[in-house]
Amino acid sequence: MATHVITGAGSGIGAAVARRLHARGDELVLHARDAGRAKELAAGFPGARTLVGDLADPDKLSWAFSHQTLPDRVDSLLHIAGVVDLGEVGELTPKSWRHQLNVNLIAPAELTRHFLPQLRAARGHVVFVNSGAGLAAHAGWSAYAASKHGLKALADSLRAEEHGHGVRVTSVYPGRTASPMQAKVHQQEGKEYDPARWIAPESVATAVLTALDLPTDAEINDLTVRPGPFSG
Ligand SMILES: NC(=O)c1ccc[n+]([C@@H]2O[C@H](COP(=O)([O-])OP(=O)(O)OC[C@H]3O[C@@H](n4cnc5c(N)ncnc54)[C@H](OP(=O)(O)O)[C@@H]3O)[C@@H](O)[C@H]2O)c1
Repeated sequence: MATHVITGAGSGIGAAVARRLHARGDELVLHARDAGRAKELAAGFPGARTLVGDLADPDKLSWAFSHQTLPDRVDSLLHIAGVVDLGEVGELTPKSWRHQLNVNLIAPAELTRHFLPQLRAARGHVVFVNSGAGLAAHAGWSAYAASKHGLKALADSLRAEEHGHGVRVTSVYPGRTASPMQAKVHQQEGKEYDPARWIAPESVATAVLTALDLPTDAEINDLTVRPGPFSG
């Protein structure tokens, strides 16, 4: 049975992925920002283990993990947690830049570093949930897009480095997806939010599972998921 380490499992896309893997009986190790959130996740996903560490403070992840039992088997590491804060370059503060770069880019690199020995041993899979903003940057999106462009670079370098160890690496680039993050984006854009107009988190979960479940003679490097013709 496969063991998956998942970030962002408490909300949106991550919760949809965790529900699907839990329903089919896979082993879950759910990452949470703090002990309270970990307790909620453990209650929502019976049998799942949890791992606590604040992704906004990647310098402290190593210390936090040294006080917890890490899984000795990891078949997949699913980086799904993320944050967004819109603003023009003329307005965004270093604090906002740092927060988005920490959660969206540096913490995934640090988590990957921690789990690489287990991933190599299992000939496992690292999946990064990126964004359309990781491929093109628009007005008002600089810090988030920079973090996601960086995440693409992290994934591409990791793939080149780890193929020799049998580790697969996939980036998934969703368009706007109905989740609390998208509600916040609409609020910052001053637009009314109608979740029915956007991709369902379950559909992005299907894309993630498609990459995971592909036979190991093949690898999906990059998967772009856009709103379908009836969602806009
Ligand atoms: N929604 C979209 O339109 C869209 C489009 C393209 C790409 N994406 C990407 O998809 C991924 C999932 O987004 P979503 O829409 O599902 O967002 P979401 O519903 O806001 O969920 C974000 C998740 O990230 C976790 N997280 C945030 N900061 C954290 C921290 N400091 N430490 C630990 N965990 C933290 C949250 O934890 P809590 O549950 O504790 O808050 C939550 O579980 C993100 O990487 C996002 O950039 C989203």
